[in-house]
Amino acid sequence: MPVHITSRRNGFFAEIEGVDIARGVDTSALREIEKALDCYAVLLFRGQSLDQAQHIAFGRQLGPLEVSLLAARDGRDLSIAKEISDISNVEPDGTVTAVGDRRRMTALGNRLWHTDSSFMKVPAKYSLLYGRNVPKRGGNTEFADMRAAYDALSKTMKGRLTNLVVDHSIVHSRAVIGFAYNEKELAARPPAEQRLVRFLPGSGRMTLYLASHASSIRGMPVPEGRMLLMELTEHAVQRRFVHSHRWQPGDLVVWDNRATMHRSTASDPNEIRDLHRVTVTDYASSLDQPLE
Ligand code: OGA
Ligand code: MN
Repeated sequence: MPVHITSRRNGFFAEIEGVDIARGVDTSALREIEKALDCYAVLLFRGQSLDQAQHIAFGRQLGPLEVSLLAARDGRDLSIAKEISDISNVEPDGTVTAVGDRRRMTALGNRLWHTDSSFMKVPAKYSLLYGRNVPKRGGNTEFADMRAAYDALSKTMKGRLTNLVVDHSIVHSRAVIGFAYNEKELAARPPAEQRLVRFLPGSGRMTLYLASHASSIRGMPVPEGRMLLMELTEHAVQRRFVHSHRWQPGDLVVWDNRATMHRSTASDPNEIRDLHRVTVTDYASSLDQPLE
């Protein structure tokens, strides 16, 4: 299966052609894809036709999978596998989720720049987001190249950040948009600590590990740490570091969560936007990974 790779941006985001994921990805193609992920951090596979099992099977080829947090939520569509995060505004009966419904909070939370599962001790390595039904306008997914953002920092700033440890919590990122969890949900969502600067063994590059979930920096007063996190985020999401993906049905976008942040953009709340995500977990907390 020969793989064809085209990057339309400098070292960030590439389209992969010649792979029909539903038919299974052979070892040599898989190796090319992993190499491309190390290099470009975000990959697009167009025109795929995937059922849940095929989507999950490809995810498993890239590593062990997370069980979706959404699998535990009330009223979940039971036809969706527990390895799939249902990133949609569609109810089991096919209607669009009403504005104000608690279930829309997941999608709204995704509009803040983040990286997946940084609030878990062992966060996500890759995410594989598959566009099933996408709006005609808006609803893009945007990606920020956190390696390029790190490279663009001054030497002094890099030195200051190297060993900092950050508190991440989904409770924090949801509070930012005015959403509060109940007691039971809070108990199931403890915060996690992660390194602010990470080393990517596949490319040998350093990266900034930030997310909307980041709330404070260990050893700093909360406002000092939060300001620094906000300033670094503002730096990282300058348009020169960002690629905006315009969805077509059948797109599968795979990204490295260690090397990027992402967010969705607004679309008409009455129009269906239906994506499925499979998430590959990392092997350890960022704190337990080497810095070189
Ligand atoms: C996600 C996510 C963004 C989007 O699935 O992790 O953040 O555009 N999605 O839906
Ligand atoms: Mn996400």
